[in-house]
Amino acid sequence: MSTQPTPQFDAVDIIRAKRDKRTLTTDEINWVIQAYTDGVVADYQMAALNMAILLNGMTRAEISTWTHAMIESGERMDFSALRFPTSDKHSTGGVGDKITLPLAPLVAVFDVAVPQLSGRGLGHTGGTLDKLESIRGWRAALTNEEMMRQLDTVGAVICQAGSGLAPADRKLYALRDVTGTVEAIPLIASSIMSKKIAEGTGSLVLDVKVGSGAFMKDEANARELARTMVDLGKDAGVNTVALLTNMNTPLGLTVGNALEVRESIEVLAGGGPSDVVDLTVALAVEMLAGAGKHIGEDEVRAALSDGRAMDKWRAMIAAQDGDNDAPLPVAQEQQQILAPETGVLASLDAYDIGVASWRLGAGRARKDDPVQAGAGIELHVKPGDHVTQGQPVMTLHTDTPERFPRALELAQSSFEVSAQAPAHAQQLILDRIS
Ligand code: URA
Repeated sequence: MSTQPTPQFDAVDIIRAKRDKRTLTTDEINWVIQAYTDGVVADYQMAALNMAILLNGMTRAEISTWTHAMIESGERMDFSALRFPTSDKHSTGGVGDKITLPLAPLVAVFDVAVPQLSGRGLGHTGGTLDKLESIRGWRAALTNEEMMRQLDTVGAVICQAGSGLAPADRKLYALRDVTGTVEAIPLIASSIMSKKIAEGTGSLVLDVKVGSGAFMKDEANARELARTMVDLGKDAGVNTVALLTNMNTPLGLTVGNALEVRESIEVLAGGGPSDVVDLTVALAVEMLAGAGKHIGEDEVRAALSDGRAMDKWRAMIAAQDGDNDAPLPVAQEQQQILAPETGVLASLDAYDIGVASWRLGAGRARKDDPVQAGAGIELHVKPGDHVTQGQPVMTLHTDTPERFPRALELAQSSFEVSAQAPAHAQQLILDRIS
């Protein structure tokens, strides 16, 4: 909670100021965030202010003040008593993005602690907690003490963010979601960074996704978002870098909760699809460097193939009551989509696959909807692969077959087969912003 008494303002004056493109003062921003958290500023007033911010933008100083006001609305965690440095990763969200699962235990192998406070999926991108909940017994909610203990003993924890962290953001994000103001870069950057700074990590790697399956469809906007977040992190004393990564096609070969856990375990066993392995290793190298450990890519890769990362994973899952040896749920019904002709898979659209998987029951439409652990899509080929007419391109999984027609409609039009390979293979990591 803010300790400084803040002067009184009128919400309408602040809305008018931003509507007329004036820079808001520190006092105005501190007041409006606190007053909104306390219920003094109404939802319709904050909605109008958000829209003015979306249309007219904010200066770097305004974004920084806005972020700090959100941090001050709640508690801050402190990991300084840990015997290891801390490093965290945040992805802006994509289809088949299960990287957190192998990444957290992999980084912990090298004595850097990973405090991953994660969320659930909404819309076409999956949520890390939903994925892990497909493991029998696994518990997302930990107390702060449990989290600290696990960071000290295992070195990695993936759990639900407590409600005390940046409560202003919780309220603001729900409002933005229903008022067409999610896409404002100052609001996205402050929303993500307020939670990460309040979480107390020493260093942070941002995976900013670009492409059809990402928030940011366009590279220039993704770049601006990355730059804004890196600056906010650095200003707050968090060693922050961002990788700009491709999200035009799903990551790996699985989309859906238990399917993605299965693939993550394959990566931890030294196998798995090359794009998932490459991105996991690249992010691990960055997270370790951010925490002061300059470890080469080959050494990091070795921890996946020699079982050290798997040992950490099993310890991390067991510490949260997950049964490592229980079989993962499998959906009751499957349906294959076959290649309509022989050729090369020219494209496979991440957004269409994400929405089709969501229609199969892997995701939720409203915040409290249940998800099906086994639902989703298993891909048998990726862009650039040769296909023969009649060969399976993907398998759809669900417990509720009445969902097949609407999912098939999208999945069938999500890919193209052409006579020859695309001129350029898509690059996975587009840039690094520090
Ligand atoms: N994720 C967040 O936490 N906040 C946003 O505004 C967008 C994505």
